[in-house]
Amino acid sequence: MKIAIIGVGNLGYSIAVGILGNKNEVKCKALYLTKRNITSLDHLDQASVVKLTSDNKRAVKYSDIIIIAVLPSQLKDVLEEIKGEVNPRKHVIISVATGRTIDEIESVLGDDTAIIRAMPNTAIAVGESMTCLSGNIKGKDKMIYAKTIFNALGQSLCIEEKLMQAATVICASGIAFWMRLIRATTQGAIQLGFHSEEAQQLSVQTCLGAASLLIDSQNHPEQEIDKVTTPSGCTIEGLNEMEHKGLSSSLIHGLVASFEKIREI
Ligand SMILES: NC(=O)c1ccc[n+]([C@@H]2O[C@H](COP(=O)([O-])OP(=O)(O)OC[C@H]3O[C@@H](n4cnc5c(N)ncnc54)[C@H](OP(=O)(O)O)[C@@H]3O)[C@@H](O)[C@H]2O)c1
Repeated sequence: MKIAIIGVGNLGYSIAVGILGNKNEVKCKALYLTKRNITSLDHLDQASVVKLTSDNKRAVKYSDIIIIAVLPSQLKDVLEEIKGEVNPRKHVIISVATGRTIDEIESVLGDDTAIIRAMPNTAIAVGESMTCLSGNIKGKDKMIYAKTIFNALGQSLCIEEKLMQAATVICASGIAFWMRLIRATTQGAIQLGFHSEEAQQLSVQTCLGAASLLIDSQNHPEQEIDKVTTPSGCTIEGLNEMEHKGLSSSLIHGLVASFEKIREI
């Protein structure tokens, strides 16, 4: 694959680093990276496949897969700029711009171009993104390219486009929600006597262990909870106290509030 990333900011950079670290899986022959001011990317130039440029049209012309990672407000201008170079027989367009629909992209590029919306999260920088994908009719035929890239950088799931906003809340905003849970358990550990670095290590590794148990066993969380809740023991005591204070309820309320907000934006 010859890949271009248009708009190498926070997310585009993480995708680029992920692709460069997974060249065997992604089989990337050339990686064009663009932004208006490319000096901040100079260090990436050492990789032989990388071509840095501020010329978006050139990057599109010499690539097959175009990942557009500019801000939502910048997307239309970029699409207008590159549309003359987009060849529907060759190119697959993958947009990660939050909230910009396939219809909006088709209104500039036409519906004969393969268009895919992707919603990754910042864990893509460490190859652990949960990325939701949705395509137009042509995009669904070319979904294998998007899956190859995003599966090399974590996991991907194809969803209906109407679920993209919910996916944004659960997966992209979800990183912030989980960080707050980890911070809270870290603060609890400090109160119980651990130094802050130790407290964070205990919290993070326990979080990773809990997720890994579910990934490995495919069990429901309650099956794993049953294994650690001794009758009349300390775990069920703490768990029930958290629920009396509204743990599950406040998490679900927060997710729904985030979803209501994204629908307003
Ligand atoms: N961060 C997340 O968790 C996350 C998750 C999912 C989706 N997203 C989406 O990903 C997109 C990027 O987010 P971000 O946080 O990476 O934003 P960002 O850091 O602002 O990156 C955008 C980049 O686009 C470049 N750019 C702007 N106009 C350009 C143009 N005409 N041609 C080429 N490059 C251009 C900018 O660099 P120059 O100014 O040098 O051109 C900038 O580096 C957004 O649409 C966001 O909604 C983000």
